[in-house]
Amino acid sequence: MSRPIFVTTALPYANGHFHIGHIMEYIQADIWVRYQRMMGHAVNFCGADDTHGAPIMIAADKAGLSPQQFVAQVAAGRKPYLDGFHISFDNWHSTDSLENHELVRQIYRALRDHPGGSLIEKRSIEQFFDPAKSMFLPDRFILGECPRCHAKDQYGDNCESCGAVYAPTELIDPYSALSGATPELRSSEHYFFRLSDPRCVAFLREWALGTDDNGKPRLQIEVANKIREWFEDRPTPDGGISRGLGDWDISRDAPYFGIEIPDAPAKYFYVWLDAPIGYLASLKNLLDKRGQDFEAYMANPLLEQYHFIGKDIVTFHTLFWPATLHFSGRKTPTNIFVHGFLTVKNGEKMSKSRATGLDPLKYLRLGMNPEWLRYYLATKLSARNEDIDFNATDFMARVNSDLIGKFINIASRSAGFLTQRFGGQLGVVSADGAALLQQLRDERASIEHLYESREFARAMREIMQLADCVNVFFDTNKPWELAKKEGQEQRLQDVCTVCIKAFRVLTCYLKPVLPVLAQKVEAFLHIAPLSCTNLGQTLPPGHTIGTYQHLMQRVDAKQLEALFVADPAFTSQTP
Ligand code: 2FM
Ligand code: ZN
Repeated sequence: MSRPIFVTTALPYANGHFHIGHIMEYIQADIWVRYQRMMGHAVNFCGADDTHGAPIMIAADKAGLSPQQFVAQVAAGRKPYLDGFHISFDNWHSTDSLENHELVRQIYRALRDHPGGSLIEKRSIEQFFDPAKSMFLPDRFILGECPRCHAKDQYGDNCESCGAVYAPTELIDPYSALSGATPELRSSEHYFFRLSDPRCVAFLREWALGTDDNGKPRLQIEVANKIREWFEDRPTPDGGISRGLGDWDISRDAPYFGIEIPDAPAKYFYVWLDAPIGYLASLKNLLDKRGQDFEAYMANPLLEQYHFIGKDIVTFHTLFWPATLHFSGRKTPTNIFVHGFLTVKNGEKMSKSRATGLDPLKYLRLGMNPEWLRYYLATKLSARNEDIDFNATDFMARVNSDLIGKFINIASRSAGFLTQRFGGQLGVVSADGAALLQQLRDERASIEHLYESREFARAMREIMQLADCVNVFFDTNKPWELAKKEGQEQRLQDVCTVCIKAFRVLTCYLKPVLPVLAQKVEAFLHIAPLSCTNLGQTLPPGHTIGTYQHLMQRVDAKQLEALFVADPAFTSQTP
C-alpha cells in the first residue's frame, strides 16, 4: 500500500547562505525521502526560507535593503546548494508568502476563538528596551548568561549550550548586542498562547510523552527526557519557582518584519509562531500548483507528517508546534526526527549563527563529488540525537576504501571480462553464485528496516559487508586466471555475471544515498530505474550490459587540504 507522507526539514533563516549543518540535515532527510519513494510511497518533501524576525530586519537595514529584498537575495542563492547535493525537495517556498500569511491568521483566530475558551491572552509585560537605539530589543539581540547552565553570551530566547528556552528577562547580566548598553525594562502589551492551560498540558503530556499509532514511545528517548523537564516545576533565578509549562509569548512590537496580528495594530507574530506554519504554506503552495486541494490532502487520516530538525529547536517542535496545530483543529505531526550537530575536525560546534569549518559551496567548487559527502554522512547517521564528527582522514578512508575499494570495484573488475570476451552478455549463474546472490537478497528486509528507522550507519555497514562477500567470491574465483585457461570461458562468464548481478543489488541498496551514481549504473547495465518494487526481477542470460566507464573518482588528499584552508571568499555568512 502506498503511504501518503509529508516531510520537511527545518526552515533556514533567510539571513545567510547554507552551512554544512543545514546540508547534513537535508541529506539525512533526502536519503529517507528517496528511500520512501523507492518503496512506492507518495512523498511530498517541502522546504522554505524562514524570513521573519528582527534579526533579518536589522540585517536588511544594515545592507541598505528592504527585508523583502534582502530575503529574496538569500532565496536566490539556495539552488546551487540544493541541486549540488542532490536534495530532492518537491517545493521550496517562503514564510513571507501569501499562503503563510493566510494560514497564520486562520490558525491564530482558531486559537483565540477556541470553543472551549480562548487560548490567547493579552498581558502587559516588562521587556528590554535599548536606550541607545530607542527600540525594544529582540531576544536575539540581548545576550547574557544562561539562567540554567550559566554558559556566557547566550541569546535572550534560548541557550545554544543546554537548549533551555526562557524569557530574556531571565538572562543573567544582560547586554544589548546592538549597542552594548545595559537594557532597561519597559512595559508593553503582549499576546500569549496559554500553554499552561490544563487542556494544553494534558494534550502535550500525551502527545510528547505518549506513544505513537504503533504503541511505541513517539519521541526519541533523549528528546522525551528533555521534554519531561519542561512539565516539571523549576527554580527561577530570583529564587522563585516556575510552575511547569509556561505560557508562550507570541507577539512582538513594531518595528518588526513579520505577519501582523489580526485586530492588534502594531503587533506582529513572533517569528517562531509563523515559521513552522511555513511547512504547511510550502505544502499548500505545492498542491495549489498541482491543482490539488490542500485541506482535503491534510484531512486524509492516513497522511503521515514528519519534521527533521536539529536538537536546538526541539521545544518549538515538540511542544509549541503540536499544541498550535491541535488546538487550531489541525492534524498534529506523526513524528519529529531530531538529529545532533555536525562537528568538523576540531570538535567545534556547527552552530547556525557561528558556523565554521566546511563550506558546502566551496566543497562543490573544488570539484568534490557530492555523493562522497552523502555517503560519508550516511556512514555516521543514526536515529539518535547525537553529534557526529566530520573527520577528513575518516572521510577519505570511507570513500576510497569502502565506497570505491569495495563497491565500485566490483563493477570495474568484472565488467571488462564480459565486454571483451562475451560481447557484454551475461551468462548462466551456477549454484555457488546463486547462493551468494540469495545471501544479498536475504538482507533486503533488514536493510529496508534500517532505512525506515533512519539507522543509515548500520545500513551502510551491512551493505559494505555484503560487498566484502562479493569481493571474496571474485578473488576466490580469480577471473584473471580463468581468462588465461582453456575451457574456463563459461566459468569466467558465470563469475563475472554473478558479480554484475550482485553489483545491481548493492546499487539498489545504496540508491537513496547515491542517486546519481545509481543512474549511471542503470545506464551502464541497460536497466530500468532500480526501486524496491523491481529489485526482485533478475537479469536473464543474454542480457547485454554497456561498456564500463569510470563511475566515481577517488578522493584526492589535496582537495581535502584545500577545503580546509581558510579562504575569505567562503567565510561570509551573509549573501
Ligand atoms: O532555527 C532555525 O534555523 C529556524 N529558522 C528553524 C525554523 S524551523 C520551522 F519552524 F520553520
Ligand atoms: Zn544553558
